[in-house]
Amino acid sequence: MTTAPVISFQQVTKRFPGVIALQTVSIDVAPGELHAVVGENGAGKSTLMKCLCGVITDYEGTLRVRGKPVRFRGTTDAERDGIGIIHQELNLVEGLSAAANIFLGREKTNRLGLLNDRAMAAAAGKLLTQLECDVRPGEPVRELRVGDQQLVEIAKAELYRLMDKLCPEGLGILVTSSELPELLTLCDRILVLCEGHTTGELRREEATEQRIMELATQRPGV
Ligand SMILES: Nc1ncnc2c1ncn2[C@@H]1O[C@H](COP(=O)(O)OP(=O)(O)OP(=O)(O)O)[C@@H](O)[C@H]1O
Ligand SMILES: [Mg+2]
Repeated sequence: MTTAPVISFQQVTKRFPGVIALQTVSIDVAPGELHAVVGENGAGKSTLMKCLCGVITDYEGTLRVRGKPVRFRGTTDAERDGIGIIHQELNLVEGLSAAANIFLGREKTNRLGLLNDRAMAAAAGKLLTQLECDVRPGEPVRELRVGDQQLVEIAKAELYRLMDKLCPEGLGILVTSSELPELLTLCDRILVLCEGHTTGELRREEATEQRIMELATQRPGV
């Protein structure tokens, strides 16, 4: 079992004309860890995520996934290495069940080419249990609380990794959100960016809204 970070940014810098969106940012997400990135508008959060999922390809520094240096040329490359991105706007089909959503586009079929609902429900149930989500796989997504809908999305991203790699290593999650109170209860560690610079990294125990706000507004070089 490897203990390498699931995701590791080493000294990643991304320049746009006239602005450095990320300045030598390093971040390690351990297996099983939920790691947040926060910052004000323009801090570099989206840029970081875009480097991770292959949307931005021309950055300096190194990105590793499970210890392996990677240089994704696109989102398909990133998916192949188990990177699934979940957008804030939920991307679920409300009328379909949790299981059907998780397998959307990758449906299991039997030898006759018919949908194998039972196998999908079983596999979806297993993924949801791993995420400590007690949603029944057959339940229509529109009936679920938003938090559970998000777990269904995570299960879906996790499935992509399992299907592509078939290895049961711990999942690492990197999250950006503007909802600080929510992050404070969810995350193991919080990286704070300001104008592309890392201004702090806090463990959950030491993170307070006030401390985060201080770091988020700590202009680099000041
Ligand atoms: N495609 C681009 N071309 C030029 N500059 C860009 C581009 N994308 C981002 N930037 C700049 O890079 C910096 C970081 O932007 P980024 O979108 O990563 O911030 P963010 O933390 O996601 O902000 P927000 O909270 O507003 O979403 C900003 O100064 C932004 O203007
Ligand atoms: Mg953004």
